[in-house]
Amino acid sequence: MTLRSTANGWGPVTRAFHWGMLLLFVGTVCVGYYMTDLRMGPAKLKIYALHKSVGITLLGLAVLRLLWRLGERRPALPPMPAWQARAAGGVHVLLYALMFLIPLSGWLYNSASGFPLQWFRLVNLPALSGADPQLKALAKAIHETGVATLIGVVVLHAAAALKHHFMDKDATLRLMLPSRGVRR
Ligand code: HEM
Ligand code: HEM
Repeated sequence: MTLRSTANGWGPVTRAFHWGMLLLFVGTVCVGYYMTDLRMGPAKLKIYALHKSVGITLLGLAVLRLLWRLGERRPALPPMPAWQARAAGGVHVLLYALMFLIPLSGWLYNSASGFPLQWFRLVNLPALSGADPQLKALAKAIHETGVATLIGVVVLHAAAALKHHFMDKDATLRLMLPSRGVRR
């Protein structure tokens, strides 16, 4: 069994990144929306710290995923109009950009707010800026807009996958599903 993607299907490493990061993204987005409404106290601080640590983990995973993907080929596309193939590629590029923009803007927001940043109480991370109220507001807006954009783009991306599966009845979704050795 090869770890790499082939003309006939996405490899196990790409599939593990894809579905593992989806789960972490769903959890981090839910915690993000939940935590902001909590009353200030030790529970809120703990949940913020967890959100930041998992967010930084997602940033690390995005770096590894992109490096892995740059060395990969993608499976052959099923027959489809050229504009659809281009749109799918464009959406993938946008998703990678958001995978970086969201955690980096969260990190910048934290730094511009003047807070220190620890990854799971194990590693102290450097500040990306000094305390700066204007930068803080900008980073917060980017973080929130980035998440809203991600949700919209993922809905579109998942709808396209379901359309391929149920209407076009091609292998697009099967080739990305956790494998039971599924190949074209
Ligand atoms: C990919 C990873 C991340 C996702 C998906 C994510 C998602 C979210 C969401 C959904 C919110 C709520 C936004 C709102 O109220 O409109 C939020 C808020 C926040 N995030 Fe993240 N986040 C991520 C990474 C990070 C990182 C790495 C940090 C800091 C190091 C961070 C710091 C914050 C802070 C401080 C808030 C609170 C904003 C407030 O108090 O209004 N986030 N995040
Ligand atoms: C229920 C949600 C999702 C479904 C059903 C889904 C489905 C798929 C499918 C079927 C493919 C293969 C497309 C092709 O062959 O061209 C794919 C690729 C891809 N998906 Fe998703 N996806 C989902 C969520 C996400 C999320 C949350 C992200 C990123 C934050 C994401 C990022 C990507 C990327 C970047 C690719 C290109 C392959 C790669 O580099 O990993 N997907 N997805």
